[in-house]
Amino acid sequence: MGIALDAYLLDWASLLLRWLHVIAGIVWIGTSFYFVALDNSLDPADPPRRGVMGENWSIHGGGFYHKQKYLVAPDRLPERLHWFKWEAYWTWISGFALFVVAYYLHADTMLIDRSVADLSAGTAVALSIGLLVAGWVAYDLLCRSPLGQHEGALAVAGLALITLAAWGCAQLFGARGAYIQVGAMVGTIMVANVAMVIIPGQRRVVAAMLAGEQPDPKYGRWGKQRSVHNNYLTLPVVFVMISGHYPMTWGHPHAWAVLVAVFVIGALVRHFFNRRHAGRTLAWLPVIAALLVIALALAIRPQPPKAAQSSSFAEVQAVIAQRCASCHAATPTQPGFAQPPGGVMLDTPERIGQHAAKIHQQSVLTRAMPPGNLTGLTDEERAVLAAWTARGAPLQ
Ligand code: HEC
Repeated sequence: MGIALDAYLLDWASLLLRWLHVIAGIVWIGTSFYFVALDNSLDPADPPRRGVMGENWSIHGGGFYHKQKYLVAPDRLPERLHWFKWEAYWTWISGFALFVVAYYLHADTMLIDRSVADLSAGTAVALSIGLLVAGWVAYDLLCRSPLGQHEGALAVAGLALITLAAWGCAQLFGARGAYIQVGAMVGTIMVANVAMVIIPGQRRVVAAMLAGEQPDPKYGRWGKQRSVHNNYLTLPVVFVMISGHYPMTWGHPHAWAVLVAVFVIGALVRHFFNRRHAGRTLAWLPVIAALLVIALALAIRPQPPKAAQSSSFAEVQAVIAQRCASCHAATPTQPGFAQPPGGVMLDTPERIGQHAAKIHQQSVLTRAMPPGNLTGLTDEERAVLAAWTARGAPLQ
């Protein structure tokens, strides 16, 4: 009962944190999209005003808005200045807490796959946290290096870094955990951009103005660079957040390459919108992105394994009882599970039959189940399941 209650409370913690994380993320990404679009759609101020580099008129919610961008800063500091940082900070705080509840506390099922790397839970968590820090340090050094002066070269280096992270995490963690780890590393970079570069730069500008000095324009430049990087990372990072539902992606033998492809596709789509908001519609960008999605879907389509001769339902039942039912039962015996995961129970012949298609999908085609192959499902047993579904999944 103690364990079941703990698992139940953790489910609630997970639900509330996930809810908060999604909402904070929506607010943050919303502001990111809004300000990059605003920046891209500025027109020269009419009439020209000292210090104003551009302005934008818009209509929304029953009124007109007139925004002006000052570069570097207005002559006088306004009395009330709105800052944008807590949406970023809360996204990270809730995201990290969710990572702890959903992955670190279930490291054996969610983070570790002993056939990939034989890590203890403590080592896996320590590696995961170390990588969150290392990812930021490596990225920040890249931006500060001479490469940081060249947008194109920096984009290539950034993609190389993401590729290294995706490949490296695939050598350390279970497939699904590896995806979330890369997502958490990228999310950490995005928040650190806000906390360590954008906001401190803005503080320096404000402090200089209060001291009656001319603010240094380099802070604006640095902040803008990081803010644009964040903008390009939004679509891929949201993909990682929802990828858990799609084992066809992270369950693929070259899951890391799939992830890199999704990063490229997401950034291309973002680029299309950014150029479009600046008045240029590059229609070939979404066409290429769509072609890449089709190519990816074809490249990773599951290959049906060579099925065993034929298998009886009794054999199937035995495999499922041994490899699946510890989690997928009305009252799971697997520690950390209060309810059958995904609502899927595989404890009676009827229920096994009812879920035949999903069983095939999850444990034969994508190998997503059992998570981290915790219960040691063998290839021969997967073939038994495959042969059974090939026969139309009869209950005998
Ligand atoms: C260690 C616990 C555990 C074991 C063992 C396990 N599963 Fe799962 N299973 C899970 C979890 C956790 C999820 C929910 C994944 C998610 O949140 O998307 C899940 C989800 C599923 C789903 C639902 C996926 C969906 O599309 O909603 C199916 C089907 C499934 N498992 C089949 C199996 C089969 C077949 C086996 C045995 C070969 C198995 N599982 C073994 C933990 C387990």
